[in-house]
Amino acid sequence: MSPPMPLAPYPVSGLPDVDRYLEDGYAGVVGMSSRLAAAITCGLLRIQTEAGVTGPIAEIGTFEGRFFIALAHALAPGEKALGIDLFDWPNPQVLDRFHANCARHGVAEDKRITWKADSRALTSHELLAKTGGKRLRLFHIDGEHSRHALTRDLALATSVLAPEGLIVLDDMLHPGYPTLMVAVQQYLDAHPDMCVLCVIDRETIVAATKFVLCRRDWFKRYEERMLVDFKANVWPLGADFEPHWCLVLGLDTRLAAIT
Ligand SMILES: C[S@@+](CC[C@H](N)C(=O)[O-])C[C@H]1O[C@@H](n2cnc3c(N)ncnc32)[C@H](O)[C@@H]1O
Repeated sequence: MSPPMPLAPYPVSGLPDVDRYLEDGYAGVVGMSSRLAAAITCGLLRIQTEAGVTGPIAEIGTFEGRFFIALAHALAPGEKALGIDLFDWPNPQVLDRFHANCARHGVAEDKRITWKADSRALTSHELLAKTGGKRLRLFHIDGEHSRHALTRDLALATSVLAPEGLIVLDDMLHPGYPTLMVAVQQYLDAHPDMCVLCVIDRETIVAATKFVLCRRDWFKRYEERMLVDFKANVWPLGADFEPHWCLVLGLDTRLAAIT
């Protein structure tokens, strides 16, 4: 039997502040999102900036800030990160820990907006008021993991998204939340202008798979860049969304041994 192929390396975002945080700080902030997903999502923000795309980003389910801090470091000067959470779990002190983590890892107060709110009750009007009317270039959804809540969060994100914008969905294909995929498929069926840009494979059962969505007319532009920038992390077979295909990015890019 031949030895297992080596796993692929962690990708870098290509943004020095982000990559320093991913290397030295990320694992020390309590949270669930994977470092792989943070590197790729921030790499996508860099690709946007290089393409002239600007604007704020938002996250539902900011928790202690693990993923949020990476996103904030990926922004261009003057852009803001909006963190939305109930900030009551597992205790109310989570809000203080979020602010302390931002300060410890160099996210200045003028770069972030904290919004203690229930995402299920928010309107696009209220959200855009927080961003000064600016549409979002990236929206990370990692709040309540029910089909109903994800459907609502997806509707909110879509209503405030810039045309070039990306929606990142947490805990996709997770064994503990199998019905989330139903909400995603219903969303894709109802929004034929949107598609899955890539699947970011899970690292562990906690640091689970994320999907990145984009508008169809931006798909090729993003995919061409990802094929170059994340070449070492492309799983050769891709994901079949019937009939749409997209990249699968991971740390384990092996195929089944069939001979
Ligand atoms: C799994 S944690 C997020 C982890 C974090 N994004 C990370 O990468 O480390 C889920 C968060 O969603 C928040 N949440 C759950 N339901 C929510 C809702 N309806 N509105 C806003 N936040 C919500 C919880 O308070 C919790 O902090």
